[in-house]
Amino acid sequence: MAKREIVRFGEEVLRQKCAEVTEFNEELWELLDDMYETMCAANGVGLAAPQVGELLRVVVIDVDDKNGRIELINPVIAGMRGKQTDSEGCLSHPGKYGYVERPAKVKVKARDRYGKPVSYIGTGLLARAFCHEVDHLNGILFADKVIEWIEEEQK
Ligand code: NI
Repeated sequence: MAKREIVRFGEEVLRQKCAEVTEFNEELWELLDDMYETMCAANGVGLAAPQVGELLRVVVIDVDDKNGRIELINPVIAGMRGKQTDSEGCLSHPGKYGYVERPAKVKVKARDRYGKPVSYIGTGLLARAFCHEVDHLNGILFADKVIEWIEEEQK
């Protein structure tokens, strides 16, 4: 595993639509492992491939719950219910936090690293992470959705 550099807000790669993964090979596994290491080193709970400069539909999430490390390849939001508004940040936007409205409960369908279909249901922070990271794959950033920015001193 190796840590990769995190792309910052303002770079064009964060605004591209990512391509579907078609080959579940060692190159993908290396990307997943590198992304996980990069995310943990930055104390993040989610990271999408464009944030390390790879335009692929690949996400890693770990909100420190019973699911542990979640890997999503070609994820699709398959269902959502309710609403929640909470503070959110992004590793590509260090030091910035703002309130974003998200669904309260989210079902996501994806493939695992071997190409096997998987699905997860998340509430709270996990539901937010699913939406935030899938947005990244479509070039959408949390900053686009912030209702109100949180001032630095309130953090
Ligand atoms: Ni992000």
